[in-house]
Amino acid sequence: MTLALEPVVTPVRLGDYRRPAWSVDAIELDVDLGIDATEVSSRLVLRSDTGQSAPLRLNGEGLELLALALDGQALDAHAFRYEGGVLEVDGVRDGSVLETRVRVQPAANTALEGLYLSGSREHGFLLTQCEAEGFRRITFFPDRPDVLARFTVTLRADRQRFPVLLAGGNPTGVGELPDGRHWARFVDPHPKPCYLFALVAGRLENITRDYVTADGRAVKIVIWSEANVIDRCHYALDAVERSMRWDEHTYGRNYDLDVFHVVATHDFNMGAMENKGLNIFNAKYLLADPDSSTDDEYRAVEAVVAHEYFHNWTGNRVTCRDWFQLSLKEGLTVFREQQFSADMNSVPLKRIEDVALLRRTQFPEDAGPLAHPVRPAEYREINNFYTATVYEKGSELVRMLAGRLGQEGFRRGMELYFQRNDGQAATIEDFLGALGDANAIDLKPYLAWYAQAGTPRLHAKSEYDAVAREYTLTLSQQTRPTPGQPEKVPVPIPVKLSLFDRDGRILPLRMDGEEKADGAERVVVLHKAAQRFVFKDVDAPPVPSLLRDFSAPVVLEYDYTPAELALLLTHDPDGFNRWEAGQQLALLAFDTLNDSVDSAACKAWCEALAALFEDRQLDDALLADLLTPPGEIELADRQSEVDPSRIHAQRQVLQQRLAAHMGADALLARYRDLSAHASQPLDAASQARRRLRRRVLELFALLNPERAHALAATQYETALGMTDRLAALGVLVRDRAPQAAAALAHFRDRYADNPLALDKWFTVQAQVPGEPALAIVATLERDPAFTLKNPNRARSLLGAFASTNPSGFHRTDGAGYQLLGERLVQLDALNPQIAARLATAFNGWQRLEPMRRVVARRALETLVQRQGLSPNLSEIIGNVLQ
Ligand code: ARG
Ligand code: ZN
Repeated sequence: MTLALEPVVTPVRLGDYRRPAWSVDAIELDVDLGIDATEVSSRLVLRSDTGQSAPLRLNGEGLELLALALDGQALDAHAFRYEGGVLEVDGVRDGSVLETRVRVQPAANTALEGLYLSGSREHGFLLTQCEAEGFRRITFFPDRPDVLARFTVTLRADRQRFPVLLAGGNPTGVGELPDGRHWARFVDPHPKPCYLFALVAGRLENITRDYVTADGRAVKIVIWSEANVIDRCHYALDAVERSMRWDEHTYGRNYDLDVFHVVATHDFNMGAMENKGLNIFNAKYLLADPDSSTDDEYRAVEAVVAHEYFHNWTGNRVTCRDWFQLSLKEGLTVFREQQFSADMNSVPLKRIEDVALLRRTQFPEDAGPLAHPVRPAEYREINNFYTATVYEKGSELVRMLAGRLGQEGFRRGMELYFQRNDGQAATIEDFLGALGDANAIDLKPYLAWYAQAGTPRLHAKSEYDAVAREYTLTLSQQTRPTPGQPEKVPVPIPVKLSLFDRDGRILPLRMDGEEKADGAERVVVLHKAAQRFVFKDVDAPPVPSLLRDFSAPVVLEYDYTPAELALLLTHDPDGFNRWEAGQQLALLAFDTLNDSVDSAACKAWCEALAALFEDRQLDDALLADLLTPPGEIELADRQSEVDPSRIHAQRQVLQQRLAAHMGADALLARYRDLSAHASQPLDAASQARRRLRRRVLELFALLNPERAHALAATQYETALGMTDRLAALGVLVRDRAPQAAAALAHFRDRYADNPLALDKWFTVQAQVPGEPALAIVATLERDPAFTLKNPNRARSLLGAFASTNPSGFHRTDGAGYQLLGERLVQLDALNPQIAARLATAFNGWQRLEPMRRVVARRALETLVQRQGLSPNLSEIIGNVLQ
């Protein structure tokens, strides 16, 4: 009957929040599945908020309305209106039952939001993605997270084509239907918002495990995938079990359904989705096997599996009142996943990885035109707010709160949070309130962190008074203006610190007003714009180790001498702080790099690292990280007239100096040594060796490329697993070594049937630095395996090129921008979410040097003038341009 037009996009504001006038007690969904057409019947039991009188308005987008009845009576055309994505119905009363029947077209759905087809028409399967607002593409419903309903879902389909039928909740029955069809029913006892609804239907295989929760519930864990990859799901199954145990142990959280289903798909916009009882994963974060997955990918699978599982409590049992509160579930769940990963692997290595990620993704976001608070005040397209700020900075905020309360206090706070908000849609205030109340602490000052965009600069200054034996640290903070927020307020900044004497010994700390020294590490909190902290009984000017463990997501400014940083790099007992000192020293070295002689900083950095490399006391993985200077994106983030090719070249020089200090012989000897131990197992020591082996090979290649390429070619051929194979391929391809072509051809052939491995083949080539990258990308776009329709593939080539290869993408002739602009238009017509995400590669263009800035602006202006762009892409381009 009616096909509604796309709604007009006006911004949604946090301040405009109103309780829902209508909610839904229960929904019965009946889904008659077909690839081209699926019919969805729904029966809603409606509840009205007595305090409000408003007509019933349900969201619905692109739905073909087949039937509509209120309290058993078919409605005629003047009793309802369906336009602009909203169905308005007259005459609804408290307790009314509304029945609708609609038709949707899964195979035509290229946006991968709502109900869609993964894979081919012949062999693929049907699945849903509803977060944030995809449920309205399946049926009419108040599509907002604060409407929680009891779901009963019945699926019907042809048994041959769809032998497996899954939905969230507990299975309550299956049966036969005429004409070779069958049905299956699922009832979810936990009321949930519709964004957590999911269904899956098709030919899938499974592996299972029986699990008993700490509180005694028997749970069947089932992982589903297409037949050809089911053997690669075992690692994920183990990871589910580890996650369940960990959440019981660490937070006292038990799983709460009889089944936990997990499904892998190759066609997915995001990493994964925590639908209640039916998690759906991008195959990239579920499949793992030694032949096609790197060590990093194994860890990513473990982390994402845990993340989605942890959402069962932080997200599902306690959900968000509105999408402004997104970080309530995402920041908190990222934090829980980081804790879990650190426990499963290594605390310092995980912290290094997370801080590096924050600096590479969130800091640039916070410093440019897309900057927004962890809790944004306004949005047009919510899907554009699944950002590094909401996720990664959000996690840092939870980490600060957890640090403030201590381990036991945080657990107490979390228990109160669950107790108060179970089954509810909550806010950030509810979260801080519970954490604070459980510990009799007022955490409200931390709300400023959620409301304010931009990375605070923490400035530190120190003075030493030899007569009074006093050391005074003056801390001050400043946050630069961000779009829409010219004025900033001070936020509480916890600064974990220690003092070292000039021999590298950590000093006991006694602060002004304290009786006696207490420990060697302290957290001081900067509450105001500036504050002084005085330390007593200090015999000589110490070296401060500030912001230990990265105790707050800020940029620290302190005038360290190279010798002081080298001292911390060499002596700090904590791996993370050591790495951080090394990073700061590398930045000093980078800033003082000159053509002829090594600066003091460069010398100090190289010598300290060469010594650590020699003495073999450090863990191999930590050593590999120490030997890696900040990346090109991080280096660019500190400059005002960014020239990415110059940054690339200078970073190469910096690494070359380091390699030279370490010496070609020592590097080669260590490479040989590490190669002799090459083995496949996933234990920490083997992973660490592979990590160091790769770094040593890369450094050696800067001194003796010919020799290194020969070693890399051998490593490629003899590699026992993907980590070593890809590391070798990376060196050959990035250096454009003569052996690269053969290795690439071999890889292409060997992994022709493995899309996830083939993605890496695209990525490694998209990352060739500098001038050649563009032509390589253009050639790869013509590869028969390339398609814009698959998000992983589009990202593996275009995302890798535009977002991770600055010297390749940012060309002075603007050809990189032009290519991306053209692809964005094509992609936008298929999948607006992916187009918008890729477009964020333009972030930061205002700080490019003038030549690139001019061509970048031209490309963006061409884009913004295109008619018919999606709200998703228009919002990003519009914001980036301002
Ligand atoms: N909640 C998912 C997660 O675990 C992400 C879903 C994002 N979906 C979207 N359409 N933006 O992080
Ligand atoms: Zn999440």
